[in-house]
Parts: sequence; structure tokens; C-alpha cells
Amino acid sequence: MIVHQSIKEILSSEKLNIPVKVRGWVKTFRNDRFIALNDGSTLQHLQLVIDPEKYSEDFLKKISTGAAIEAEGELVESLGKGQKVEVQVEKLKILGEADPETYPVQPKRHTLEFLREIAHLRPRTNLFGAIMRVRSDLAFAIHEYFHQNDFFYIHTPIITAIDAEGAGQMFQVTTLDLKNPPLTEEGEIDYKKDFFGRKANLTVSGQLEAETYAMALGKVYTFGPTFRAENSNTTRHLAEFWMVEPEVAFLDLDGNMDLAEDFVKYIIGYVMKSRAGELEFLEKRLLQEEKSLPANKRSDMPLREKLQFILENQFVRISYTEAIEILKQSKPYKKKKFQFPVEWGVDLQSEHERYLVEKHFKSPVIIYDYPADIKAFYMRLNPDGKTVRAMDVLFPGIGEIIGGSQREERLDVLLEKMKKLGIDEKDLWWYVDLRKYGTAVHSGFGLGFERMVQFVTGMSNIRDVIPFPRTPKHADF
Ligand code: 4AD
Ligand code: MG
Repeated sequence: MIVHQSIKEILSSEKLNIPVKVRGWVKTFRNDRFIALNDGSTLQHLQLVIDPEKYSEDFLKKISTGAAIEAEGELVESLGKGQKVEVQVEKLKILGEADPETYPVQPKRHTLEFLREIAHLRPRTNLFGAIMRVRSDLAFAIHEYFHQNDFFYIHTPIITAIDAEGAGQMFQVTTLDLKNPPLTEEGEIDYKKDFFGRKANLTVSGQLEAETYAMALGKVYTFGPTFRAENSNTTRHLAEFWMVEPEVAFLDLDGNMDLAEDFVKYIIGYVMKSRAGELEFLEKRLLQEEKSLPANKRSDMPLREKLQFILENQFVRISYTEAIEILKQSKPYKKKKFQFPVEWGVDLQSEHERYLVEKHFKSPVIIYDYPADIKAFYMRLNPDGKTVRAMDVLFPGIGEIIGGSQREERLDVLLEKMKKLGIDEKDLWWYVDLRKYGTAVHSGFGLGFERMVQFVTGMSNIRDVIPFPRTPKHADF
């Protein structure tokens, strides 16, 4: 019996004139003779050659784009251009038809907007196949990096009662009857009667729970879905996205920056090797897409060159205070071209980050020591009393791709900060306990996984690098 083989295996086969059996979906069918078949295992299609004399007209009609078929035959050298080998088909079965009248993924250019509306079928396109194979390999590279460096993978909870970032952008989880919720004597909703006996949410970050494990296992990471109910309709935000969060005991901010840089270089280097074909394809697509843009909106470098550039260059590291100085000396600032204010104490906006990365340094930049007032409660206070040991890694075309910090390990300083921000110590008693028992310097960061996939694939909209994007008013599929 001939076992079913993947097209990837067949195309990398050293042997010719061997029997093969393949299954996949028809990409195109030309001259009643040539079928381009794809099974998802690789970007490449396998050419099947059939003898039309052997089949009825009715049968040939069923070999249409999108149909699932099974073919058996001999793998031979191809005389045609464009492929080295092809299959001389002896047996052909239609497994599942795809009515050409209604099947929406025809072999022509579809807009990304249209493909989002058929997110269940867009993986059948060459583009989405390529993106998702890159995404899968990036995820694998992440696990491999941490595994090789003796980190433990910790599964932090999705449902939580805490607000790690304190930004109030959480989705609530409840089983209460929304039409008729139980009330307290004061007329407030009585969450004691809710499923968890308290108010619960979907997590915005696994960091605080990861910290507890770092303070026992030393080096840990979590990699899972996170949720933010921010009503921002940008090309960089999702309501459900995946975050990679390492957390390391006895590591300070400098070590944290080293880790972040080493980590992103590793995973980018990994997919440059493992998905060279896909990246070449994505690079061509990007060049094509950018042709219609004015010259100043196009990328400086082709995709793969940009990735190589990341691998070969050290990230620039500057403090927030230095960043503000540079921005104040900049042309767009002097010509009042920035929309948002540049002033010590205000958060950097995307336009500022992009100026620093794309215009001033032309390199990834790590900005550290931000004003305490614009960052989360858990970041370590500097001796100046007004900045914290935060770091953001900024990438060209993306902006912030990583956010992290050295954590406040001093009990008294942490408690004072929480008090100032109105965070009840009782809600975070276990987090505070870490500072009571065996506290130590520790640090970590969060990488927005989709933003990394965007960077590597050159896709401009984050909705196109996750299988089923969740954004305001969109949760189909
Ligand atoms: O900077 P953020 O909010 O940091 C944290 O959540 C920390 N607790 C991480 C840590 O130190 N363990 O988020 C981290 C990264 C951002 O830099 C960004 O890349 C990504 O997560 N991110 C989003 N990605 C897509 N959609 C959104 N709505 C995102 N919000 C943040
Ligand atoms: Mg951030």
C-alpha cells in the first residue's frame, strides 16, 4: 500500500519514478490537464498531470479551485517550466467539490479586507498559508529558546481577579443574570453570589502569577492569550492577543535588556532559516503592496534585509530623559509636526517612537527609566524617586513590541506605591507575600506575539497575522 505523503515530503524526495499518493486542494486547473495541488505543508504546489481522455466532461468540471482531491501516480521529472517534478496521475478521486459559482477564494488577487470577511477560508490562500506557517515556527522558536536556556513554561490563569496593569481595560467574566443581578443592601451588584464569589476578569497579563513561580523556579515564562478591552481600532491592537512573558529571579534591568535582545534575535534568526521560502514570498508581496504608496511611506529595506539588520546590529539603549531631549531637538518638533506634546512626564506616542527608531537611530531602540507616573505599580523605583526601571523595546514600523521592567522587590516601597494608587493590599496579599518571604531582585518583560509576527511577515495590519482576530465589534468565527 502506498501511504499518503505530504507535498513537502514529495518535493524534497531524492528519488524519481516512484509511486506517490497525495491529497490536497486544487489551486488551479489548466488545459484540462495540469492541476496545481496544495496541501498546506509548504508554499509550493505540486503539479499533477492527468490524461483528459480518461475522464468524462462532468468529472473534469469537478476539478475546480478549492476542491479536495486524492491522486495516485508516478513521480517523474517535469519537462515544463516552473517545477522540477510532477505526478503522472493514474488514479484521481474527487473528495470534496467546491462549486466555482460560490467558492469565494478564486485564483486572483483578493483584498485583505475581503479576506478578513472569509477568515475561515483565507488560510487557503498562498499568503495566509505563508503567514501562519511563519507564525507557527515563531511560536516553536520561542519555546525552543526558553527550553535551551533552562526556563520553565508556566501556565498562568486566563481567569483572574487581579488587574496586573491597572489600566482598567478588562473583560468581565460572570454567570450572573444580567437582567436581574443579585444586589447588596446598598444596591450594588452582589459579586459574592457570582460564580467565583467575587468579581473576575479575563487576564491582561500573566506577569504577576509568573513572578510567583520565578521566585521558586528561577527562570520561567508564560505564553498564552491575553485580553484587553481597549476600544482602539488601530493596526497594532487586538482585544485578544498572545503574549510571551519571561520572568527571572536575580536579574536586574540591564540583564533584562540583554535577555530581550538575545531572545528576539534568536527567534527572528530561527524563522529566517526555517521559513526562507515563505519570507521570500512575503518580501515580494510587500514590495508589490508598497508600489502604490508614495516613496516616503515605503520601507527602507526589503523584508529579509530588515530582518538581517536586526540580527546584526546592537539595539540602541537610551533613557526616557535622553529620548525627550532628542525629540526636543528634532526637526518635526521644531516645525510643530508632532501631533502630541513632547515634555518630560508625558507618555511617548507612536509618532515619537517611530521618529526615534526610523529617523533618528534607524535601529531598534530600548528606552528605559520612564517616569513612575506613567507606568504600572510593580516597577522598581529609581533612587531619583521619580523614574522607574521600566523598558520598552521599539521596532521599526511597529513601535512598542516589548514592555518590561525590573520589579519592585522592596516591601515598604511596594506597599507605599500601592497605597498611593489605591490598590488594596488585601487583593494582592499573595503578591505582597513574595516581598515578605525571600524577596530578591527580579525582572521580566512581555512580547506582543502578533506584533512580532507582523514585523517578521511585513503585514501592516495585526488582524492579518492571527487566525481569527478579535477587535471592537468583531468576534465572528
Ligand atoms: O506593555 P504591556 O502592557 O506589558 C505588560 O502587560 C507587562 N505585564 C509585561 C511584562 O512585563 N511581563 O504589554 C506587553 C506587550 C506590548 O509591548 C505589546 O507588544 C503587546 O504586549 N500588546 C498588544 N498587542 C496586541 N494588541 C494589544 N491590545 C496589545 N497590548 C499590548
Ligand atoms: Mg507597554
